[in-house]
Amino acid sequence: MHNRFTSARFTSSAVTTARLAIAAAALALVGHAQAQNAPIKVGLMLPATGTFANLGTMIENGFKMYVAEQGGKLGGNEVQYFKVDDESDPAKAADNVNKLIKRDQVDVLVGTVHSGVALAMAKAAKESNTLLIVPNAGADVVTGPMCGKNIFRSSFSNWQPAYAMGKVAAERGHKKVMTITWNYAAGNESVKGFVEGFEAAGGKVSQQLNLPFPQVEFQALLTQIASQKPDAVYAFFAGGGAVKFVKDYAAAGLMKSAPLYGPGFLTDGTLEAQGEAAQGMYTTLHYADNLNTPRDNAFRLAFAKAYKVNADVYAVQGYDAAQMLGAGLKAAGGDIKNRDKLVAGMETAVIDSPRGKFKLSPAHNPVQDIYLRQVKGNVNEVKGVAVKALADPAKGCKM
Ligand code: PHB
Repeated sequence: MHNRFTSARFTSSAVTTARLAIAAAALALVGHAQAQNAPIKVGLMLPATGTFANLGTMIENGFKMYVAEQGGKLGGNEVQYFKVDDESDPAKAADNVNKLIKRDQVDVLVGTVHSGVALAMAKAAKESNTLLIVPNAGADVVTGPMCGKNIFRSSFSNWQPAYAMGKVAAERGHKKVMTITWNYAAGNESVKGFVEGFEAAGGKVSQQLNLPFPQVEFQALLTQIASQKPDAVYAFFAGGGAVKFVKDYAAAGLMKSAPLYGPGFLTDGTLEAQGEAAQGMYTTLHYADNLNTPRDNAFRLAFAKAYKVNADVYAVQGYDAAQMLGAGLKAAGGDIKNRDKLVAGMETAVIDSPRGKFKLSPAHNPVQDIYLRQVKGNVNEVKGVAVKALADPAKGCKM
């Protein structure tokens, strides 16, 4: 009896010890798994107010849709969002980005739309070695002199669609063209890219007009255009400003005498508001509304279902920013701190974008086809490829 009791006690204590050991091991495993799978802290710095507000929403929705498609995870990690409205205001940009870097201690910055704000983000990202993915702003220097191992772009450089439009405008027989834009990095770089493409193909830009960002008092400038009688006009505007510019241009009766061209931002996400005014316009961009590939059709259907609005280029760029981060995390085995593997994963990934598959240039900017599109109804219809696999020259980038 005693023996049995003793042995029973012995057995029971052995079982307890074993159970404790298993529990401890399990706890250790959980602890390990938690350490590895701590949520990825994504800092979204986008405009929620002002002329680019809608662009910010589309980017955020695109990003979140890709994450949702992966079951809410990237590289096996939950994703946690931190948000700042940057108001497309460069004067507030340094403070705003530091809220995400210092206060929220995000793992990755995603932003923004406005090139001037993006420059401040790139500077802060460099100084703190925070990973940055730019889901729109085309500022050439971000993947030029400011390029870096931790700096990526899922969108375009201002030069890319602009240069392609210059080539197309010349091919369409225009000789003397005027330009008009907001006087800030994106507008000025876009005009510069257009001049380069247009003049290399034999055209001449006769006059460059501008007004401060984000002003929309266009009348005096439209009067100047009317009096100069150019063959055509190239304009960079986007968001709310693009809606007003295209409508004012058409109302001034200029569409026929001087056809209006631009990078596709002039008519992307804006067609319902522009209505009749934008019909027939030609633009160049790395996306169009009817690419009609299985990949893009599936994307557009899912986006329309999720957000009750048609996808546009901004939604694509947000979606692809998440894809790029996902590719990096996968290569790093889910470990956001393994920066070398993460960067290598992003650098070598083939991104299965709704725009068409692309890879990044050595400066971390998409190498991509620039489509020629024409507005028909509420659609930017693809008319062909203006320039195939166009890589930004990345002047001044030393990695
Ligand atoms: C920019 O500031 O770089 C910018 C803004 C809006 C666009 C495109 C580029 O649609």
